[in-house]
Amino acid sequence: MSNAAPAGRAHWSSRWAFILVTAGSAIGLGNIWKFPYMTGTNGGSAFVLVYLACIIGIGVPLLMAETLLGRRGQENPADTMRIVAAEARASQWWQIVGYIGILGALFILSFYSVVAGWILDYTFLAMKGFAGASKESLAQTFSQLLADPVKLIAWHTAFMAINVAVVAGGVTAGIERANKIMMPALLAIVLVLIGYGFVAADMGAAFRFMFHFDFSAISSKVILSAMGHSFFTLSLGMGAIMTYGSYLGRDTSIARTCLYISVADTGIALLAGLAIFAIVFAQGLEPAAGPGLILQTLPLAFSQMPGGGVIGVLFFLLVVFAAWTSSISLIEPATAWLIERFGLRRSRAVWIVCLTTWLLGIAVALSFNDWSEVRFFGLNIFDFLDTLTTKIMMPLAGLLIALFTGWVMKRAHVEDEIGLGGGAFHLWFNVLRFLSPLAIVVIFLNVIGVIG
Ligand code: TRP
Repeated sequence: MSNAAPAGRAHWSSRWAFILVTAGSAIGLGNIWKFPYMTGTNGGSAFVLVYLACIIGIGVPLLMAETLLGRRGQENPADTMRIVAAEARASQWWQIVGYIGILGALFILSFYSVVAGWILDYTFLAMKGFAGASKESLAQTFSQLLADPVKLIAWHTAFMAINVAVVAGGVTAGIERANKIMMPALLAIVLVLIGYGFVAADMGAAFRFMFHFDFSAISSKVILSAMGHSFFTLSLGMGAIMTYGSYLGRDTSIARTCLYISVADTGIALLAGLAIFAIVFAQGLEPAAGPGLILQTLPLAFSQMPGGGVIGVLFFLLVVFAAWTSSISLIEPATAWLIERFGLRRSRAVWIVCLTTWLLGIAVALSFNDWSEVRFFGLNIFDFLDTLTTKIMMPLAGLLIALFTGWVMKRAHVEDEIGLGGGAFHLWFNVLRFLSPLAIVVIFLNVIGVIG
């Protein structure tokens, strides 16, 4: 089962398996739910432009670096950092990167699962069909869902349960198999929605909204949101990629695989955005509607397109699936840590991780209704956890990963892992050493207001 990997530890069955599961981690609610609504609330093209710049200048180089660290360390994120730091004769404090990831992944999962629960709810609504749906009725359906703590918690519980089932089954057996059919199927459905956008909605307006670049709309808030999202969508900085990299065999080119994954991830997000905004503009909806955006737009299209009944069910089902392959990667870092550091059985480790996040997720579900007044720094629990992870923990961990790989690790080891030669290596390495960390720091400072 392993390709030239050290004995004793599970490994992916092939390079393609790694691409598939890592793409499965990257492609999820971030692409289909979050990217469109963030684009909508952050002024459209301004956000898209900065997001693309962040993917290229920060995201892709870091995806390679995080994978590289994982494969070098061959352990959970904390122990991987301990091992690679020892190898570089650097401080054991670098383990902190691993702990930020392990903890952050659990925070993300707690709200990710609640949102995945919304999609589960809409999968069942789609089975009944959206016949006769209107802008108003869909807005109401969504706010009724948010107002119903029992329903939110029930769906969140259901989503966590299917996660326990897969992750308890182990990395290769559980995670790989699930990905192979569903990811291409999701792409197919998104393409159908794009087709619908061209024929029956306003694709022209969607293009203008997303790609007619207006530099004056770029603000510090837009830049921080876009940078945060570039981390979120590529699953960066939270130990997920590091853990997946640790199951990667030695003979795989990390650079090339990471490039494929980034292209797939960005492509799906842009396509989903176009499909959704085509409907938004054709129907006179509000692009800045927020987290409910896809749930308030797509059902309109499903209610009108031929075969929309079936397509709607399939779509939501595939989004649940995409969310599932992502959430698995959020559970794995803490699970691997419990197994490897404390010698727990996998099934027990998974239970501990999932029960903890389940409890936190209940607080998230309540933050939309009974606990909406509970605030941290003025944010409700849902917004607080999202902001803390996406805008603070991920960029911080990313910064540390760039600095560690670029400046602390022995260069020969980096070269040995990354699988890039000559000019390409220098380009990547210099971007990672200078551009990525500098960009993260400047964006941070800018937001804090130190330099503007
Ligand atoms: N990238 C996933 C998405 O876009 C979410 C995700 C999975 C994630 N694993 C992660 C985000 C690790 C941050 C860190 O839906």
